[in-house]
Amino acid sequence: MPDSVLAIEGVAKSFGANQVLANVGFSISKGEIVGLLGPNGCGKSTLLNLISGVFPADAGILAFQGENMTGQSMDQIARRGLVRTFQLPSMPRRMTVAELLHGAAARGAGFGSLFRRDASEMAEIDGLLDELALSHVRHLPAASLSGGQKKLLSIALALRASPRMICLDEPTAGVHPNLRHHMVGLLRRINASGITLLIVEHDMHFIRELCSRCVVMDRGAVIADCKPSELTSNEQVVEAYLGNARQKRAMA
Ligand SMILES: Nc1ncnc2c1ncn2[C@@H]1O[C@H](COP(=O)(O)OP(=O)(O)O)[C@@H](O)[C@H]1O
Ligand SMILES: [Mg+2]
Repeated sequence: MPDSVLAIEGVAKSFGANQVLANVGFSISKGEIVGLLGPNGCGKSTLLNLISGVFPADAGILAFQGENMTGQSMDQIARRGLVRTFQLPSMPRRMTVAELLHGAAARGAGFGSLFRRDASEMAEIDGLLDELALSHVRHLPAASLSGGQKKLLSIALALRASPRMICLDEPTAGVHPNLRHHMVGLLRRINASGITLLIVEHDMHFIRELCSRCVVMDRGAVIADCKPSELTSNEQVVEAYLGNARQKRAMA
């Protein structure tokens, strides 16, 4: 695909005898907001880990902006412009929100900039804190924030790396409904600034509001690639979710 930002082909991953992903493939075009769906345990977070370089794939190709990133480290991939947020972001105890945001850009720009506190950087951080509704907690230890605030802070940290694409792992899980609404607007604005988004999410309302396309996985494979409005009429998708619920009922 000529305008593809992320192209995944034949990706596989096992942990010991547990094959978690098998022959996964899809591509994402520049500027898209794509939802990555599927029942718990189907391999969504593992796929984000492979895309962002947390650990390598056993087989297959992961190309970002036309370049094969397979085997590259998380830092190398982040420097190319692909960053991700985690399902359960952990934050350092000893750093405040503002200090963490300063450090985030320093990592990408070299050690010297760790001590740089110039006006443009301060203004950028102020703008981010304001946009993410985190200004009032800027001097608090990052670890003391609520779950929802940590999710917002992890988006702010991702933005500090000047990314071309962000992968978000369940950005609204455990987040207050008011903040969820704020998150939709925020992700739309981030996308409008030219950043492609891949979002793992369970909230169908959120998906319908935000995504133009959904990739659905079940048991480590892609089972559908369709518009959010087509999900409920896709038999395989319905079966993946209902089959899972039936299984749970049978086990209860
Ligand atoms: N680092 C790991 N080591 C061993 N098994 C893992 C690891 N990460 C994920 N898994 C396994 O991979 C499977 C898929 O997990 P995950 O990708 O977290 O699913 P999802 O995000 O779709 O809920 C699970 O069986 C999980 O136990
Ligand atoms: Mg997950």
